[in-house]
Amino acid sequence: MAEPMLEAREIVKSFGRVHALRGANFTVFPGEVVALVGDNGAGKSTLVKTLAGVHPPDAGEILFEGRPVHIASPVAARRLGIETVYQDLALAAELDPAANLYLGREIMRGGVLGRLGFLDKAEMRRRGDQQFKELGVAIQDTSASVATMSGGQRQGVAVSRAVTWASKVVFMDEPTAALGVVQTRNVLDLIRRVRDRGLAVVLISHNMPEVLEVADRIEVLRLGERVARFERGDVTMEQIVGAMTGAIKHEEEAA
Ligand SMILES: Nc1ncnc2c1ncn2[C@@H]1O[C@H](COP(=O)(O)OP(=O)(O)OP(=O)(O)O)[C@@H](O)[C@H]1O
Ligand SMILES: [Mg+2]
Repeated sequence: MAEPMLEAREIVKSFGRVHALRGANFTVFPGEVVALVGDNGAGKSTLVKTLAGVHPPDAGEILFEGRPVHIASPVAARRLGIETVYQDLALAAELDPAANLYLGREIMRGGVLGRLGFLDKAEMRRRGDQQFKELGVAIQDTSASVATMSGGQRQGVAVSRAVTWASKVVFMDEPTAALGVVQTRNVLDLIRRVRDRGLAVVLISHNMPEVLEVADRIEVLRLGERVARFERGDVTMEQIVGAMTGAIKHEEEAA
């Protein structure tokens, strides 16, 4: 089998007395969609945040393309090609959708070597509109700030931003939670397209039919530890739920 794109080994993370991760393992390979599932509070978002440079782990090791890495900040994660759609979205509410898409990577016009130029808002808006259209994100007034948009529209903007910039790994923490039927379809199609480009896609979702539809593999977290791994095809919804609730343990011994 190919080398993992990203691997977490025995990650520990506590918030005061809350032990969010108690030696969690996680693996994702290039060109696959892995669903990271588990009950509320299992540690899914925390694990993603440690791998995206938001929370430094208290202990454990992260390997990126086989090399141990220290991902010190979200900017460091982005430099590695890792993009994240956070559960709480993390958009700049006062900016319009296109400005959010290009936040920190603004297109400049004029100037020399990127200096003394000014923001090319028209170009960002044009490319942004194209991206949102492709995703089926319906935004009536693209110059309005994100603060005025619906939950589903914001989710669409966050997903667009992540897939626009990711080159290695995309984490999507419940990307379809606020979406309608059509937009959910579009996001699932987009996840497959991103996977087919060779990226590693990590999908967090409580929607089991969606997980079974799109995931190539499933990793289950429970109480801050990985308790099961399944391949698509030889797993039933009952087995996944069993692992989430502690009825089934389906995990080989850690290396
Ligand atoms: N910033 C934080 N400060 C304090 N506690 C936190 C913080 N983030 C997470 N926790 C705690 O860590 C535990 C794991 O939370 P986490 O958000 O990772 O769960 P989750 O699996 O994503 O759950 P959900 O399915 O509800 O999103 C919870 O008990 C939560 O209260
Ligand atoms: Mg969460």
